[in-house]
Amino acid sequence: MAEKKKMSVAEILAAARAADGKGAAANPAAPEPVAEEPAAAGAPAEQPAAKPKPAAAGAGGRPSVADILAMARAKKESGESAAATPAAPKPPAKPAAKAAAAKPAAPKDGPKTGVQRDTASILAAARAGAKPGPVSKAEAPARPAPRPKPPVAGEKPVAVVPPRPAKPEPQAKKGGDEEDRRGFLQIALGTAMATGFTALSVTGGLFTLGLARFLFPNVLAEPPSKFKVGFKDAFPAGKVETKYVPQYGVWVVNGDFNGLQQIYALKTVCTHLGCTPSWLEAEQKFKCPCHGSGFYKDGINFEGPAPRPLERYAIRIADDGQLEIDKSRAFQEELGQWADPDSFVTV
Ligand code: FES
Repeated sequence: MAEKKKMSVAEILAAARAADGKGAAANPAAPEPVAEEPAAAGAPAEQPAAKPKPAAAGAGGRPSVADILAMARAKKESGESAAATPAAPKPPAKPAAKAAAAKPAAPKDGPKTGVQRDTASILAAARAGAKPGPVSKAEAPARPAPRPKPPVAGEKPVAVVPPRPAKPEPQAKKGGDEEDRRGFLQIALGTAMATGFTALSVTGGLFTLGLARFLFPNVLAEPPSKFKVGFKDAFPAGKVETKYVPQYGVWVVNGDFNGLQQIYALKTVCTHLGCTPSWLEAEQKFKCPCHGSGFYKDGINFEGPAPRPLERYAIRIADDGQLEIDKSRAFQEELGQWADPDSFVTV
């Protein structure tokens, strides 16, 4: 059994050209048998024999690759036929036929490759290394987001500026001049009403204050009408006490009236026009600064325009033994009231 020898395409072509040259020199009509066509790498058996084609090299031009291959196949076939003769052993046909049946048919016109693969294997390989292409909406969420490109050294990062929102369109003016007039009238009317209400409120407030002032007048802090000035020993004979003048308007005098030593309280009001006379210790008299009226120590007027003597207040000895003066009661000499025991205290 002849040993199969694997040959490349280049060797086959070289062998075909060599055989072609020899055959053309000896007998261009009868091609010589050539060595058996080597099987492709990994091919389990020989390829089926092709029908010989007429050589085109005899035409004088250079044969093409297809012609060379056809010639090689024709020589191979002729070699097989020569092996059927008694001079050359005939290779067994059955194994070749079986191998040809087991081997898938190769394309006649397509380019020959070192490894022949079927369509399923080619599709599987394409799918395995296929890059992700367009996806449907259902597959979109599962698709990972594209990674940002890493910054290149020396290149400044570009800031991503969000798009500027569109400016709102200004609202169209409604109404025009009519609206302006209405607004002006409303403002004017509102201002006038506000001014009127303000003036009315101020007037009402002032009226309320005046009414309250009328209903609740100022209350003068007047001293009580009755007050105590001490014991009789504090007022010796001939003594005119002036210390109660500022607060009570009273002179407390220990003097003689109509031959009777008494302690009495003289009112510090001039009987002319109401001025306050002054006690002159050196002159032993009361002198009015307004018009010059003069009064003796007992209160009898003796000079000036004063028409009558000074008045007396009621005086008595209180329960505690002190002298108590009551300004609510007054006694006039011209009316004979100084004779009233309530107008003096006997010493
Ligand atoms: Fe005293 Fe006129 S008021 S003299």
